[in-house]
Amino acid sequence: MTASFYTDAPYPHKLSVAPMMDWTDRHFRYFLRLISKRSYLFTEMVTTGALLYGDAERYLRYNAQEHPLALQLGGSDPKALALSAKMAEDYGYDEVNLNVGCPSDRVQNGRFGACLMAEPEHVGACLAAMAASVRIPVTVKCRIGIDDMEGYAPFQNFINVVTDTSPCRIFTIHARKAWLKGLSPKENRDIPPLHYDYPHRLKQERPDLTVILNGGLLTLEQSSPHLEALDGVMIGRAAYQDPWIFAEADQKIYGDTTALPDRHHIAAQMADYADRQMQQGVPLQSITRHLMGLFNGLKGARAWRRHLSEHAGKTGAGPGIILDAADKVAPDQAPSLKRAEA
Ligand SMILES: Cc1cc2nc3c(=O)[nH]c(=O)nc-3n(C[C@H](O)[C@H](O)[C@H](O)COP(=O)(O)O)c2cc1C
Repeated sequence: MTASFYTDAPYPHKLSVAPMMDWTDRHFRYFLRLISKRSYLFTEMVTTGALLYGDAERYLRYNAQEHPLALQLGGSDPKALALSAKMAEDYGYDEVNLNVGCPSDRVQNGRFGACLMAEPEHVGACLAAMAASVRIPVTVKCRIGIDDMEGYAPFQNFINVVTDTSPCRIFTIHARKAWLKGLSPKENRDIPPLHYDYPHRLKQERPDLTVILNGGLLTLEQSSPHLEALDGVMIGRAAYQDPWIFAEADQKIYGDTTALPDRHHIAAQMADYADRQMQQGVPLQSITRHLMGLFNGLKGARAWRRHLSEHAGKTGAGPGIILDAADKVAPDQAPSLKRAEA
């Protein structure tokens, strides 16, 4: 067995933005990176089929500024996963992560995602094949169970089998079960109850593992108690809907002393980015759709959203739309860290 990852140094990624299909594309990641330089970013899930038989460049390309950046794979064929992991490494990704948490029917039909929770030996075989083909960390994002896996023991067994059969030691745990029959993917993110005690117990029992908690976290404040006991936290929906919650992440989570970002400045940077992307044929709306939450909580936030929604799709619309929309918002109030220093 090859050496496990991050055994010599603490896991560096205390705060990450979850992989989210249709949401965490390269445009959103570029935007989030302007808000936080240090937070760890994940791609949307990319299937091995899309990489091996589709337009790999389309799925793998990213902006250099997005680092540190992990690619999430969906698949269950060890050979295909190994080849895809190698492509991720060759493209310069910092980590390759296996999706063992998605409950959608499409994914179940392909026999991957959350249904793999029932096949820990196979997950181990997949991870072992991936790890044998790359030097970057190979990691898992999983649930705490599916369907009739009741209680902590089946989850513990899943982890134990995976770590017995592969070198993977880094687990991001969406701390609720997935019910594969009867709930939609959206319901599966809300209805099964959260069990934060599972990842915490796992870390206590297996301090050799890197354990990252995901599910239901809305703010950095809610995340910090978990960071005292665990290696990291991952935030999904809140990061997308209210990205400014990451504005103080570099200072509060990583102890940086750099200046806090400014929202109007970020809007201007996104206008420059949109300009460059549009020259490569990217529609303006593909970028503006991710920016809606930037000014949440400020006077004029609704006018910002409305202006973007109404104008970005119009023929001839250019990146100036973003600047015009930002003009409708009152200047940024000093973020709390600045206020504290005043
Ligand atoms: C729109 C959307 C798409 C998602 N796509 C993925 C995905 O591609 N891979 C994955 O592992 N999880 C996916 N998830 C689940 C999130 O990564 C995360 O585990 C879940 O939303 C719980 O975290 P949260 O409560 O912080 O949002 C998705 C979630 C949403 C809302």
